[in-house]
Amino acid sequence: MPTVVSGIRSTGNLHLGNYFGAVKNFVEMQHHHDTYFFIADLHSLTTHPTPEHLYANVRQVLAEYLACGIDPEKATVFIQSDVPEVAELYLLLNMNAYLGELERTTSFKEKARKHPDNVNAGLLTYPVLMAADIIIHKAHLVPVGKDQEQNLEMGRTFARRFNRMYNVELFPIPRPYVFEGQDMVKIPGLDGSGKMGKSEGNAISLADAPGVIRKKVMKAVTDSGPTIPNQQKPEVIQNLFTLLDVVSTPDVVAHFDLQYNNCSIRYGDLKKQLAEDIIKFNTPIRERIESLLADEAYLSKVAKLGAEKARASASRTLKEVREVIGIKKFY
Ligand code: TRP
Repeated sequence: MPTVVSGIRSTGNLHLGNYFGAVKNFVEMQHHHDTYFFIADLHSLTTHPTPEHLYANVRQVLAEYLACGIDPEKATVFIQSDVPEVAELYLLLNMNAYLGELERTTSFKEKARKHPDNVNAGLLTYPVLMAADIIIHKAHLVPVGKDQEQNLEMGRTFARRFNRMYNVELFPIPRPYVFEGQDMVKIPGLDGSGKMGKSEGNAISLADAPGVIRKKVMKAVTDSGPTIPNQQKPEVIQNLFTLLDVVSTPDVVAHFDLQYNNCSIRYGDLKKQLAEDIIKFNTPIRERIESLLADEAYLSKVAKLGAEKARASASRTLKEVREVIGIKKFY
């Protein structure tokens, strides 16, 4: 059975984009693969969260993963920092990760440009830690979105480099798992600026209360309305329809589509419907998130089970790595 590893940074609540872009597929994959899904709390340290925030965010994302249907009996669900073997492999991989290639990474350049006052080494070596996350479980497949493709490509390079350097085939070269068609819906943000993302401030969280959802949707950017029958929808309008597509029934989508095409659409009506349908979709998930967050004993049991399973796999690989490198015990 192929091994799958993927993680999400613990910078806060999962939003609809995370759900339809990744988590929904994680839930599907856990039935047919040996899956490892983790919360990348170490990665989130590049932006220096306070201890309180770090802890609260990890807890929140753990509850959200579970509320979405990731089953800790099927998948290995764990918190990155519970597996210290990852940090050791990261250190070892760093010896063969070169400044030039790290500096050329798009995500590094972008973050350095946006936050010139915080260009730290953790940011620079982010892809190395990500590679360690993946190859420590000898992953074959990594479900990632477009924005993580280059990081994964670097992971492939580090795995290949290690194998070649020591003339071993210790690490399989992980391949990106690309969701196709219907399965990989790119959820737009509500501000007409492209993708839904937490840092973009245009996201609807799975945990958002109905009132918050209504407010966010009603504020979504639109235009002044169609004037020519059947005209092409501009991006801001297409975005609303894309959201409608994932949460509403086909007849609702067809209804507004028709109205758009005969120029009788009132965006206020569309938004009201969209808000209610998002609420309908989110409510059962939000309720599960809330009850999970209230169940300290269960969360702790899940985290412990995940940590044990992940450490068993990670320490097997790390033992081989140490041997190959020549780190041997004198006692
Ligand atoms: N970099 C990923 C993100 O920003 C999170 C991540 C960390 C990850 N380690 C990973 C994803 C390993 C896949 C595999 O969302």
